[in-house]
Amino acid sequence: MNQNQTPLFTGVKNHADKKPTQFHIPGHKGGKGMDKEFQQFLGDNALSIDLINIEPLDDLHHPQGMIKDAQSLAAEAFGADYTFFSVQGTSGAIMTMIMSVCQPGDKIIVPRNVHKSITTAIIFSGAKPVFIHPELDNRLGISHGITPEAVERACLAHPDAKGVLVINPTYFGITADLSHIVDIAHSYDIPVLVDEAHGVHIHFHERLPLSAMQAGADLAATSVHKLGGSLTQSSVLNLREGLVSHERVQTIMSMLTTTSTSYILLASLDTARRHLAMNGHELMESCIRLADSTRKSLNQIPSIYCPGDEILASDATHDYDPTKLIISVKNLGISGYDVEVWLRENYSIEVELSDLYNILCIITPGDREENVERLIEALTDLSEQSSGTVETKEIVVKVPDIPVLSLSPREAFYASTEVLPLRDAVGRISAEFVMVYPPGIPIFIPGEIITSDNIAYIHENIQAGLPVQGPEDSTLETIHVITEQKAFK
Ligand SMILES: Cc1ncc(COP(=O)(O)O)c(C=O)c1O
Repeated sequence: MNQNQTPLFTGVKNHADKKPTQFHIPGHKGGKGMDKEFQQFLGDNALSIDLINIEPLDDLHHPQGMIKDAQSLAAEAFGADYTFFSVQGTSGAIMTMIMSVCQPGDKIIVPRNVHKSITTAIIFSGAKPVFIHPELDNRLGISHGITPEAVERACLAHPDAKGVLVINPTYFGITADLSHIVDIAHSYDIPVLVDEAHGVHIHFHERLPLSAMQAGADLAATSVHKLGGSLTQSSVLNLREGLVSHERVQTIMSMLTTTSTSYILLASLDTARRHLAMNGHELMESCIRLADSTRKSLNQIPSIYCPGDEILASDATHDYDPTKLIISVKNLGISGYDVEVWLRENYSIEVELSDLYNILCIITPGDREENVERLIEALTDLSEQSSGTVETKEIVVKVPDIPVLSLSPREAFYASTEVLPLRDAVGRISAEFVMVYPPGIPIFIPGEIITSDNIAYIHENIQAGLPVQGPEDSTLETIHVITEQKAFK
């Protein structure tokens, strides 16, 4: 196949160039019928391809023409047997993955620190989660992935599970040994579903961790929009044939997708794929070089630490993506949140995320030398301002015990509930999510039995000033529980 071609983008552009007289939606008709300021801001080119699935432009729900061709090129570029375009982000692709393999009552093995789209899919599908604790990094105060050994134990205990879900790489760019995890799950005929929201680029350079398709996974939900150069909200779902039917995936994807698919988003997937396939290696090469030199400079700033190869110290940290700069700021004596706000207010710098101990900055093909120089200048300034006042804090990252799941999250979500003081809720079934971030691991999800140990854990975290999030009552005095469903006699 010729990866230099863009059948979808070219097809849509050619259609717009014919300037057809339009008697169809979108009603702005190339921008002429919309607010003038917005029309001028977006420009004629973008508005001329803001189209929907009229006959010459194919249909994402039943691709036969230019979308099919664009998806086939993407499959080749990502090393998949099939690629499905998503205009509903990786969240949409993740829900499709889970609903493609799980029916109500089916088990799915998942890490405890999953994105909300995974818990949503578990509720929608009626699946029963079998949770695995991710490994914690006590030095950085973050959670990593799950280990092959933990997956082996979970598969042995639940050989009837319908899927193993792996986050590869994590938000912080860390990966476990995915090939090994795939071998283990496949030895039980269990498909491996990968949340690859933060890993579209890793497929294109040998110094980056193995992508889901390279590691032999069955499905991967991949955010092209996050790090692959397409527009926000556009993602792909990659499939390797064998344990999962592509017809089933197409059906579920279609059920969860708008009938008014944006051709601007679809065309951006087609062109991002071309850019990655044609130039991905070179682009990643310069990102890695820029990130490596930035990491070196950051580590020369007093009280700042940016981990590199030394992070690869356990089974959960088999490999890492060097373009993610995890910047530990705990030795500055202020939190990552404070650093984020300080950078915004003093240097107009926006970071990717912050938590109590770190900020995360990402290096992509959109970066130039001067961007990282500004970051280094800002953090040097901050470090100088805080020097002398610093008291190094020890991080204690603990993980709550995983409570017993008494109802499926779906049954709990639809059950009638009542509000109780938290201290009186022991033995009752939670109807809410409660989690501490960092490390982003839920204490309760809907359907789990509340224990006194886990209530004590919540109080410990509140007293330590850690953000406990999730419940409707943000003071955590009260919690919603399932009405009159006594879990214990
Ligand atoms: C780990 C992880 N998975 C899935 C998603 C969902 O991706 P999207 O925003 O494209 O729906 C995110 C988004 O931040 C994420 O961090």
